[in-house]
Amino acid sequence: MTDEGPQPDLTVERSREIRRQQLLQQVQKQDRVRDPYPLPDLVGAEDGWMSDVEVAVLVGYAKLLSPAMGPVLEIGCWKGRTTSGLATVGKVEVVDHFVGGKDMPPELRGRNVRPDFARNLERLDLLDRVTVHEGKTRDVLPQLESASYRLILVDASHEAEDVAFDVSEAWRLCSSGGFIFFDDINWESVQTAVVNFLRSKSLRALNLASQKLAFIKRP
Ligand SMILES: C[S@@+](CC[C@H](N)C(=O)[O-])C[C@H]1O[C@@H](n2cnc3c(N)ncnc32)[C@H](O)[C@@H]1O
Repeated sequence: MTDEGPQPDLTVERSREIRRQQLLQQVQKQDRVRDPYPLPDLVGAEDGWMSDVEVAVLVGYAKLLSPAMGPVLEIGCWKGRTTSGLATVGKVEVVDHFVGGKDMPPELRGRNVRPDFARNLERLDLLDRVTVHEGKTRDVLPQLESASYRLILVDASHEAEDVAFDVSEAWRLCSSGGFIFFDDINWESVQTAVVNFLRSKSLRALNLASQKLAFIKRP
């Protein structure tokens, strides 16, 4: 005998677990049937930060807008996880110096990850849809043509000054009627830069698709 009190009835626990698994499978099956935009094959979560659902939100918005409004621009692509979702819809241009941001853990920084990016997209047969502009956003973005991208994801440096620069360039680069998304809007540095920009333009259109992902629509 032990003095640990009454033990759980393992038969009951087991049958509850089986029932829970059955219900879960039913729900997942229904979701698959109803989802008009099933998730594309993505570069693995270990090579990025966005959840599958967040990538699916971006992919859904990219699909809503006509390709005649221009390609998608991703500012900060790392090893191509988000790019892999966006490229399933069509052409994507990416801007990155590929050596990691100051906000990343030191073990991830310093090595150029462009070969990883290329390998990941090649494996999904999507590399030929992507144009890479390798360099710092301050050098590359001013060279891109105004009002020529239908959806822009801003996800490079998270330092407030850099975000302020990237946001104002994204605004210039976005086609009329297009969308600008930000990852990590819950970071104070990112939020401050975005909100300051919105105020400076008297814009109020800030929508949260999740705690991390937000967008403004260019009028
Ligand atoms: C958070 S990661 C992007 C993740 C990617 N969007 C995803 O979800 O899979 C940020 C990227 O921005 C790049 N980056 C940071 N600061 C930059 C800068 N000033 N100019 C260009 N790229 C920068 C880093 O090299 C890194 O690849």
